[in-house]
Amino acid sequence: MEIVASGIRPTGNLHLGNYFGAVKSFLQMQNEYQCYFFIADWHSLTTHPHPDNIRNSVKTILAEYLACGIDPEKAALYVQSDVREVAELYLYLNMNAYLGELERVTSFKDKVRTQPNNVNAGLLTYPSLMAADIIIHKAVKVPVGKDQEQNMEMARHFARRFNNIYGVDYFTEPASFHLSAKAVKVPGLDGSGKMGKSEGNAIYLIDDEKTIKKKVMKAVSDSGPTEPNSEKPEPIANLFAMMEIVSEQSTYDHFNELYNNCSIRYGDMKKQLAEDINLFCAPIRERILDILANEEYLEKVARQGAEKARASAAKTLSEVRQIIGFRP
Ligand code: TYM
Repeated sequence: MEIVASGIRPTGNLHLGNYFGAVKSFLQMQNEYQCYFFIADWHSLTTHPHPDNIRNSVKTILAEYLACGIDPEKAALYVQSDVREVAELYLYLNMNAYLGELERVTSFKDKVRTQPNNVNAGLLTYPSLMAADIIIHKAVKVPVGKDQEQNMEMARHFARRFNNIYGVDYFTEPASFHLSAKAVKVPGLDGSGKMGKSEGNAIYLIDDEKTIKKKVMKAVSDSGPTEPNSEKPEPIANLFAMMEIVSEQSTYDHFNELYNNCSIRYGDMKKQLAEDINLFCAPIRERILDILANEEYLEKVARQGAEKARASAAKTLSEVRQIIGFRP
């Protein structure tokens, strides 16, 4: 059976970008593949060096994964830092990762701009840790959103380079996976770019109806089109992109028609969008709260997941050690 691996950083609650960019694929893939889904807590140290309460944020993401429908009996659902073999593989990959290529990664350059006082080596080598996460299970498919494309390219480089350096055909190059023909980018509603935790524009699965409404109603729009069938400027295109993701097709078509004949009222559109987002989030929100209250269950899931992931990781690592020339 083909192997799948993917993770999410525990730097905040799960938001709609995480769900539609990644988790939605996880839900489908867990029925068809051998899956490893994890909470990338080591990665979060690159931006959050003093995690206030890492145990709680990990627990929350775990509950959110479960509330979305990840089945821990089907997929290995685990915490990255429970699988220390990943750190050893990261070390080996770093020995063959070059400063020039790491410095060229766009997300690294962004972080240099946004956190100039903390340009740490973990940030620089973020892509090799991510590659280790994936190839430690010899995963071939990686469900991720569009923002991870460059990291995935790097993961393929590192897998290929390992094979070349040691003269083996050991790792397969992992490919990004998307449910539809193209990678998903869930937009932010603040005018431009993607939805994200660090962008400060996220709508979280745990948000209540009032919070969702408040966030959607203040989405950036404009005074409306004056020419029929005109092209949508980015903030408006983003509103429509969000509606396409969460609403019925007929709802989208209705507002699209109003846009095209210049009679759209963005207030109405936002109200509908907020309702549809709430309809989607409400049942998940309830399950998150239920699951969070069950500490014992969460602990059991994390333990079980770590066992499954460590079995797979230990096998790879023993073979990798042998290939490099260490005792297995
Ligand atoms: P992270 O934690 O930023 O996001 C987790 C997943 O959610 C997707 N995503 C989005 N997709 C579409 N539109 C958006 N606005 C949006 N925002 C987030 C991301 O693409 C991602 O799939 N580096 C990763 C975590 C990671 C990982 C891995 C992923 C660590 N190791 C190994 C895959 C394989 C990250 O920071 O994702």
